[in-house]
Amino acid sequence: MELQNDLILRAARGEKTERTPVWLMRQAGRILPEYRAIRNSLSGFKELVETPGLAAEVTIQPVDILGVDAAIIFSDILVIPEAMGLQYEMIEKKGPWFEKTINSATDIEQLKVAEADDLSYTIDAIKITKERLDGRVPVIGFSGAPWTILSYMIEGSGSKTFSRARRFLYTKPVLAHKLLDKITQSTINYLFGQIEAGANMLQVFDSWAGILTTEQYKEFALKGIREICEAIKAKHPELPITVFAKGAYFVRKELGQLNCNTIGLDWNMDIAESRELVGSNKTLQGNLDPCLLYSSEETIKAETERMLREFGPQRHIANLGHGVYPDTDPGKVKFFVDTVKEFRF
Ligand code: CP3
Repeated sequence: MELQNDLILRAARGEKTERTPVWLMRQAGRILPEYRAIRNSLSGFKELVETPGLAAEVTIQPVDILGVDAAIIFSDILVIPEAMGLQYEMIEKKGPWFEKTINSATDIEQLKVAEADDLSYTIDAIKITKERLDGRVPVIGFSGAPWTILSYMIEGSGSKTFSRARRFLYTKPVLAHKLLDKITQSTINYLFGQIEAGANMLQVFDSWAGILTTEQYKEFALKGIREICEAIKAKHPELPITVFAKGAYFVRKELGQLNCNTIGLDWNMDIAESRELVGSNKTLQGNLDPCLLYSSEETIKAETERMLREFGPQRHIANLGHGVYPDTDPGKVKFFVDTVKEFRF
Protein backbone atom coordinates (compact mmCIF):
# COMPACT_ATOMS: atom_id res chain seq x y z
CA MET A 1 0.00 0.00 0.00
CA GLU A 2 1.18 3.49 -0.91
CA LEU A 3 2.02 5.60 2.16
CA GLN A 4 0.71 9.15 2.21
CA ASN A 5 3.34 10.22 4.73
CA ASP A 6 6.68 8.40 4.52
CA LEU A 7 8.84 11.21 5.98
CA ILE A 8 10.16 9.03 8.78
CA LEU A 9 11.19 6.22 6.42
CA ARG A 10 12.96 8.67 4.12
CA ALA A 11 14.73 10.34 7.04
CA ALA A 12 15.87 6.93 8.29
CA ARG A 13 17.29 6.05 4.88
CA GLY A 14 19.08 9.39 4.61
CA GLU A 15 16.86 10.67 1.80
CA LYS A 16 15.82 14.30 1.57
CA THR A 17 12.77 15.37 3.58
CA GLU A 18 10.73 18.59 3.38
CA ARG A 19 10.74 18.79 7.17
CA THR A 20 11.93 16.79 10.17
CA PRO A 21 9.58 13.90 11.06
CA VAL A 22 8.44 13.52 14.67
CA TRP A 23 7.02 10.88 17.00
CA LEU A 24 7.43 10.11 20.72
CA MET A 25 8.65 7.01 22.45
CA ARG A 26 5.76 5.64 24.57
CA GLN A 27 3.24 7.82 22.71
CA ALA A 28 0.69 4.98 22.68
CA GLY A 29 -0.84 4.71 26.12
CA ARG A 30 0.20 6.44 29.28
CA ILE A 31 -0.60 10.08 28.46
CA LEU A 32 -3.94 10.15 26.65
CA PRO A 33 -7.29 10.22 28.51
CA GLU A 34 -8.70 8.40 25.46
CA TYR A 35 -6.24 5.56 26.25
CA ARG A 36 -7.18 5.47 29.93
CA ALA A 37 -10.87 5.22 29.04
CA ILE A 38 -10.25 2.03 27.07
CA ARG A 39 -7.71 0.69 29.56
CA ASN A 40 -10.04 1.22 32.54
CA SER A 41 -12.86 -0.69 30.85
CA LEU A 42 -10.67 -3.82 30.85
CA SER A 43 -9.19 -6.15 33.46
CA GLY A 44 -5.75 -4.68 32.92
CA PHE A 45 -2.87 -3.78 30.68
CA LYS A 46 -2.38 -7.32 29.40
CA GLU A 47 -5.95 -7.66 28.21
CA LEU A 48 -5.38 -4.57 26.09
CA VAL A 49 -2.10 -5.90 24.70
CA GLU A 50 -3.74 -9.24 23.90
CA THR A 51 -6.90 -7.88 22.24
CA PRO A 52 -5.77 -6.96 18.71
CA GLY A 53 -8.70 -4.68 17.81
CA LEU A 54 -8.24 -2.58 20.95
CA ALA A 55 -4.42 -2.59 20.71
CA ALA A 56 -4.85 -1.25 17.17
CA GLU A 57 -7.21 1.43 18.43
CA VAL A 58 -4.77 2.79 21.04
CA THR A 59 -1.93 2.53 18.52
CA ILE A 60 -3.80 4.92 16.21
CA GLN A 61 -4.94 7.38 18.93
CA PRO A 62 -1.69 9.42 18.93
CA VAL A 63 -1.82 9.69 15.14
CA ASP A 64 -5.34 11.14 15.32
CA ILE A 65 -4.92 13.22 18.46
CA LEU A 66 -1.28 14.34 18.39
CA GLY A 67 -0.56 14.31 14.65
CA VAL A 68 2.68 12.31 14.90
CA ASP A 69 4.41 11.01 11.75
CA ALA A 70 4.36 7.34 12.79
CA ALA A 71 2.34 4.87 14.85
CA ILE A 72 4.16 2.49 17.20
CA ILE A 73 2.34 -0.75 17.78
CA PHE A 74 0.82 -1.00 21.26
CA SER A 75 2.47 -3.91 23.06
CA ASP A 76 5.36 -4.34 25.49
CA ILE A 77 8.93 -5.60 25.35
CA LEU A 78 7.98 -8.18 28.02
CA VAL A 79 5.85 -10.26 25.66
CA ILE A 80 9.07 -12.01 24.62
CA PRO A 81 9.97 -13.46 28.04
CA GLU A 82 6.35 -14.53 28.33
CA ALA A 83 6.36 -16.26 24.93
CA MET A 84 9.55 -18.04 26.06
CA GLY A 85 7.79 -19.38 29.15
CA LEU A 86 7.92 -16.72 31.88
CA GLN A 87 4.50 -15.25 32.54
CA TYR A 88 4.41 -11.65 33.76
CA GLU A 89 1.85 -9.50 35.46
CA MET A 90 1.61 -5.74 35.15
CA ILE A 91 0.89 -4.48 38.64
CA GLU A 92 -0.86 -1.13 38.88
CA LYS A 93 1.52 1.69 39.90
CA LYS A 94 4.36 -0.81 40.41
CA GLY A 95 5.18 -2.21 36.99
CA PRO A 96 6.02 -5.67 35.71
CA TRP A 97 6.32 -8.72 37.94
CA PHE A 98 7.41 -12.27 37.02
CA GLU A 99 6.50 -15.19 39.26
CA LYS A 100 9.34 -17.32 37.93
CA THR A 101 12.83 -15.97 37.23
CA ILE A 102 15.99 -17.40 35.67
CA ASN A 103 18.94 -18.51 37.74
CA SER A 104 20.27 -21.87 36.55
CA ALA A 105 21.19 -23.85 33.44
CA THR A 106 17.98 -25.89 33.84
CA ASP A 107 15.89 -22.72 33.93
CA ILE A 108 17.41 -21.66 30.63
CA GLU A 109 17.01 -25.10 29.03
CA GLN A 110 13.32 -25.07 29.92
CA LEU A 111 12.73 -21.84 28.01
CA LYS A 112 11.44 -22.20 24.50
CA VAL A 113 12.64 -20.23 21.53
CA ALA A 114 9.57 -18.12 20.73
CA GLU A 115 8.02 -18.14 17.27
CA ALA A 116 5.97 -15.31 15.78
CA ASP A 117 2.88 -17.55 16.22
CA ASP A 118 3.35 -17.42 19.99
CA LEU A 119 2.77 -13.67 19.73
CA SER A 120 -0.12 -13.74 17.29
CA TYR A 121 -2.04 -11.07 19.24
CA THR A 122 0.59 -8.42 18.43
CA ILE A 123 0.98 -9.71 14.87
CA ASP A 124 -2.80 -9.43 14.41
CA ALA A 125 -2.81 -5.97 16.02
CA ILE A 126 -0.29 -4.82 13.39
CA LYS A 127 -2.46 -6.18 10.57
CA ILE A 128 -5.56 -4.40 11.91
CA THR A 129 -3.60 -1.19 12.51
CA LYS A 130 -2.33 -1.23 8.91
CA GLU A 131 -5.84 -1.73 7.56
CA ARG A 132 -7.33 1.06 9.67
CA LEU A 133 -4.48 3.52 9.04
CA ASP A 134 -4.91 2.96 5.33
CA GLY A 135 -1.44 4.37 4.56
CA ARG A 136 -1.71 7.58 6.61
CA VAL A 137 1.61 6.99 8.42
CA PRO A 138 4.11 4.13 8.75
CA VAL A 139 3.84 1.58 11.57
CA ILE A 140 6.84 1.02 13.83
CA GLY A 141 7.29 -2.51 15.19
CA PHE A 142 9.57 -3.06 18.18
CA SER A 143 11.24 -5.36 20.65
CA GLY A 144 13.52 -5.08 23.64
CA ALA A 145 17.22 -5.69 23.11
CA PRO A 146 18.46 -9.05 24.47
CA TRP A 147 20.36 -7.54 27.43
CA THR A 148 17.35 -5.54 28.63
CA ILE A 149 15.11 -8.61 28.29
CA LEU A 150 17.64 -10.78 30.15
CA SER A 151 17.74 -8.28 32.98
CA TYR A 152 13.95 -8.58 33.52
CA MET A 153 14.15 -12.38 33.30
CA ILE A 154 16.78 -12.49 36.04
CA GLU A 155 15.35 -9.76 38.30
CA GLY A 156 11.68 -10.64 37.88
CA SER A 157 10.70 -6.98 38.11
CA GLY A 158 12.04 -3.48 37.65
CA SER A 159 14.97 -2.48 39.82
CA LYS A 160 16.98 0.65 40.61
CA THR A 161 20.33 -1.09 40.15
CA PHE A 162 19.56 -4.34 38.30
CA SER A 163 22.35 -5.72 40.48
CA ARG A 164 21.07 -9.31 40.27
CA ALA A 165 21.25 -9.15 36.49
CA ARG A 166 24.70 -7.59 36.56
CA ARG A 167 25.86 -10.14 39.13
CA PHE A 168 24.72 -12.89 36.74
CA LEU A 169 27.02 -11.52 34.02
CA TYR A 170 30.02 -11.68 36.40
CA THR A 171 29.25 -15.01 38.04
CA LYS A 172 27.61 -16.99 35.22
CA PRO A 173 28.90 -15.56 31.93
CA VAL A 174 28.49 -18.81 29.99
CA LEU A 175 24.85 -19.12 31.06
CA ALA A 176 24.32 -15.44 30.30
CA HIS A 177 25.45 -16.02 26.72
CA LYS A 178 23.17 -19.07 26.41
CA LEU A 179 20.21 -17.07 27.61
CA LEU A 180 21.06 -14.08 25.43
CA ASP A 181 21.27 -16.36 22.37
CA LYS A 182 17.82 -17.80 23.07
CA ILE A 183 16.35 -14.32 23.55
CA THR A 184 18.06 -13.10 20.37
CA GLN A 185 16.62 -15.95 18.31
CA SER A 186 13.14 -15.42 19.75
CA THR A 187 13.36 -11.69 19.03
CA ILE A 188 14.41 -12.28 15.41
CA ASN A 189 11.45 -14.64 14.88
CA TYR A 190 9.11 -12.11 16.42
CA LEU A 191 10.41 -9.17 14.39
CA PHE A 192 10.11 -11.18 11.16
CA GLY A 193 6.48 -11.79 12.09
CA GLN A 194 5.96 -8.07 12.66
CA ILE A 195 7.44 -7.23 9.24
CA GLU A 196 5.29 -9.84 7.50
CA ALA A 197 2.24 -8.32 9.23
CA GLY A 198 3.13 -4.92 7.76
CA ALA A 199 5.51 -3.10 10.14
CA ASN A 200 7.32 -0.44 8.07
CA MET A 201 10.24 0.06 10.41
CA LEU A 202 11.58 -1.44 13.63
CA GLN A 203 13.02 -0.11 16.85
CA VAL A 204 15.07 -2.13 19.34
CA PHE A 205 14.90 -0.70 22.89
CA ASP A 206 17.96 -1.33 25.06
CA SER A 207 16.54 0.53 28.05
CA TRP A 208 19.13 -0.74 30.54
CA ALA A 209 22.18 -0.31 28.30
CA GLY A 210 23.59 2.44 30.48
CA ILE A 211 24.18 0.33 33.59
CA LEU A 212 26.83 -1.94 32.03
CA THR A 213 30.55 -1.26 31.82
CA THR A 214 31.92 -0.59 28.35
CA GLU A 215 33.51 -4.04 28.26
CA GLN A 216 30.31 -5.76 29.39
CA TYR A 217 28.25 -3.86 26.86
CA LYS A 218 30.55 -5.02 24.08
CA GLU A 219 30.65 -8.60 25.32
CA PHE A 220 27.03 -9.19 26.32
CA ALA A 221 24.81 -6.58 24.71
CA LEU A 222 26.13 -5.57 21.29
CA LYS A 223 26.36 -9.12 19.96
CA GLY A 224 22.63 -9.80 20.15
CA ILE A 225 21.71 -6.41 18.68
CA ARG A 226 24.18 -6.98 15.86
CA GLU A 227 22.68 -10.42 15.12
CA ILE A 228 19.16 -8.98 15.10
CA CYS A 229 20.16 -6.22 12.64
CA GLU A 230 22.05 -8.64 10.38
CA ALA A 231 19.19 -11.18 10.31
CA ILE A 232 16.59 -8.53 9.45
CA LYS A 233 18.76 -6.77 6.87
CA ALA A 234 19.64 -10.07 5.14
CA LYS A 235 15.95 -10.57 4.33
CA HIS A 236 14.66 -6.98 4.27
CA PRO A 237 17.54 -4.67 3.30
CA GLU A 238 15.21 -1.67 2.75
CA LEU A 239 13.43 -1.89 6.09
CA PRO A 240 14.75 0.82 8.45
CA ILE A 241 15.96 -0.28 11.89
CA THR A 242 16.51 2.03 14.87
CA VAL A 243 18.67 1.02 17.82
CA PHE A 244 18.03 2.98 21.02
CA ALA A 245 20.54 2.11 23.75
CA LYS A 246 19.62 4.38 26.64
CA GLY A 247 22.64 5.69 28.50
CA ALA A 248 25.17 3.91 26.27
CA TYR A 249 27.16 7.06 25.49
CA PHE A 250 30.32 4.98 25.88
CA VAL A 251 29.65 2.81 22.79
CA ARG A 252 28.25 5.37 20.37
CA LYS A 253 31.07 4.60 17.93
CA GLU A 254 30.28 0.87 18.00
CA LEU A 255 26.54 1.53 17.65
CA GLY A 256 27.39 3.57 14.55
CA GLN A 257 28.92 0.47 12.98
CA LEU A 258 25.79 -1.68 13.31
CA ASN A 259 23.85 -2.68 10.21
CA CYS A 260 20.96 -0.37 11.09
CA ASN A 261 19.73 3.02 9.87
CA THR A 262 19.12 5.09 12.98
CA ILE A 263 20.70 5.50 16.41
CA GLY A 264 18.53 6.90 19.21
CA LEU A 265 20.12 9.46 21.52
CA ASP A 266 19.06 10.24 25.07
CA TRP A 267 19.18 13.79 26.43
CA ASN A 268 22.57 13.35 28.09
CA MET A 269 24.23 12.73 24.76
CA ASP A 270 25.69 15.80 23.09
CA ILE A 271 24.34 16.10 19.54
CA ALA A 272 27.51 17.26 17.74
CA GLU A 273 29.69 14.78 19.62
CA SER A 274 27.23 11.95 18.85
CA ARG A 275 27.24 12.84 15.15
CA GLU A 276 31.03 12.72 15.20
CA LEU A 277 31.14 9.33 16.96
CA VAL A 278 28.25 7.67 15.11
CA GLY A 279 29.40 8.94 11.71
CA SER A 280 27.59 10.61 8.84
CA ASN A 281 25.79 7.63 7.32
CA LYS A 282 23.35 7.03 10.14
CA THR A 283 20.21 8.97 11.04
CA LEU A 284 19.98 10.20 14.63
CA GLN A 285 16.77 10.16 16.68
CA GLY A 286 15.94 12.19 19.76
CA ASN A 287 16.74 13.76 22.12
CA LEU A 288 14.86 16.25 24.29
CA ASP A 289 14.57 15.67 28.02
CA PRO A 290 11.02 14.34 28.61
CA CYS A 291 10.81 16.83 31.52
CA LEU A 292 10.98 19.71 29.04
CA LEU A 293 7.31 18.99 28.33
CA TYR A 294 6.44 20.11 31.88
CA SER A 295 7.63 23.63 31.05
CA SER A 296 5.94 26.60 29.33
CA GLU A 297 5.12 26.62 25.62
CA GLU A 298 7.70 29.35 25.19
CA THR A 299 10.46 27.14 26.65
CA ILE A 300 9.28 24.06 24.74
CA LYS A 301 9.39 26.01 21.46
CA ALA A 302 12.83 27.50 22.11
CA GLU A 303 14.38 24.18 23.16
CA THR A 304 12.75 22.21 20.34
CA GLU A 305 13.97 24.68 17.72
CA ARG A 306 17.44 24.72 19.24
CA MET A 307 17.50 20.92 18.99
CA LEU A 308 16.25 20.92 15.37
CA ARG A 309 18.98 23.38 14.35
CA GLU A 310 21.65 21.39 16.12
CA PHE A 311 20.69 18.13 14.38
CA GLY A 312 20.26 19.90 11.04
CA PRO A 313 17.74 19.43 8.23
CA GLN A 314 18.52 15.86 7.17
CA ARG A 315 19.11 12.53 8.88
CA HIS A 316 17.16 13.47 11.99
CA ILE A 317 13.97 12.03 13.49
CA ALA A 318 12.69 14.33 16.24
CA ASN A 319 11.73 12.61 19.49
CA LEU A 320 12.38 12.79 23.22
CA GLY A 321 15.48 11.22 24.72
CA HIS A 322 13.31 8.52 26.40
CA GLY A 323 9.63 7.69 26.71
CA VAL A 324 7.17 10.48 27.47
CA TYR A 325 6.29 10.51 31.19
CA PRO A 326 2.76 9.39 32.12
CA ASP A 327 1.68 12.66 33.80
CA THR A 328 2.63 14.89 30.86
CA ASP A 329 -0.13 17.21 29.60
CA PRO A 330 -1.17 15.89 26.15
CA GLY A 331 -1.63 19.54 25.10
CA LYS A 332 2.08 20.12 25.68
CA VAL A 333 2.92 16.98 23.72
CA LYS A 334 0.83 18.25 20.82
CA PHE A 335 2.55 21.64 21.09
CA PHE A 336 5.95 19.91 20.80
CA VAL A 337 4.77 17.91 17.76
CA ASP A 338 3.34 21.05 16.10
CA THR A 339 6.54 23.01 16.79
CA VAL A 340 8.57 20.40 14.89
CA LYS A 341 6.03 20.23 12.05
CA GLU A 342 5.92 24.02 11.59
CA PHE A 343 9.67 24.58 11.77
CA ARG A 344 11.55 25.27 8.52
CA PHE A 345 15.29 25.63 8.16
O1 CP3 B 1 3.79 3.94 22.88
C1 CP3 B 1 4.58 3.02 22.81
O2 CP3 B 1 5.80 3.20 22.84
C2 CP3 B 1 4.07 1.60 22.52
C3 CP3 B 1 3.88 0.77 23.64
C4 CP3 B 1 5.01 0.40 24.58
C5 CP3 B 1 4.73 0.01 25.91
N1 CP3 B 1 5.88 -0.42 26.48
C6 CP3 B 1 3.39 0.04 26.52
C7 CP3 B 1 3.27 0.11 27.98
C8 CP3 B 1 6.38 0.25 24.39
C9 CP3 B 1 7.25 0.57 23.17
C10 CP3 B 1 6.93 -0.27 25.59
C11 CP3 B 1 8.35 -0.60 25.75
C12 CP3 B 1 8.87 -0.93 27.08
N2 CP3 B 1 8.25 -1.61 28.09
C13 CP3 B 1 10.19 -0.62 27.49
C14 CP3 B 1 11.24 0.02 26.63
C15 CP3 B 1 11.09 1.50 26.52
C16 CP3 B 1 11.50 2.27 27.75
O3 CP3 B 1 10.64 3.00 28.27
O4 CP3 B 1 12.65 2.17 28.17
C17 CP3 B 1 10.32 -1.12 28.81
C18 CP3 B 1 11.56 -1.01 29.67
C19 CP3 B 1 9.09 -1.74 29.16
C20 CP3 B 1 8.75 -2.46 30.41
C21 CP3 B 1 7.59 -1.86 31.13
N3 CP3 B 1 6.30 -1.84 30.65
C22 CP3 B 1 7.59 -1.22 32.39
C23 CP3 B 1 8.82 -1.02 33.26
C24 CP3 B 1 6.28 -0.81 32.67
C25 CP3 B 1 5.73 -0.15 33.92
C26 CP3 B 1 5.99 1.29 33.97
C27 CP3 B 1 5.53 2.12 32.78
O5 CP3 B 1 6.33 2.28 31.87
O6 CP3 B 1 4.38 2.58 32.74
C28 CP3 B 1 5.49 -1.17 31.54
C29 CP3 B 1 4.05 -0.92 31.40
C30 CP3 B 1 3.55 -0.31 30.15
N4 CP3 B 1 3.97 -0.64 28.90
C31 CP3 B 1 2.51 0.66 30.08
C32 CP3 B 1 2.34 0.93 28.72
C33 CP3 B 1 1.34 1.84 28.09
C34 CP3 B 1 1.75 1.26 31.27
C35 CP3 B 1 0.86 0.27 31.91
C36 CP3 B 1 -0.63 0.55 31.83
O7 CP3 B 1 -1.14 1.28 30.96
O8 CP3 B 1 -1.31 -0.04 32.66
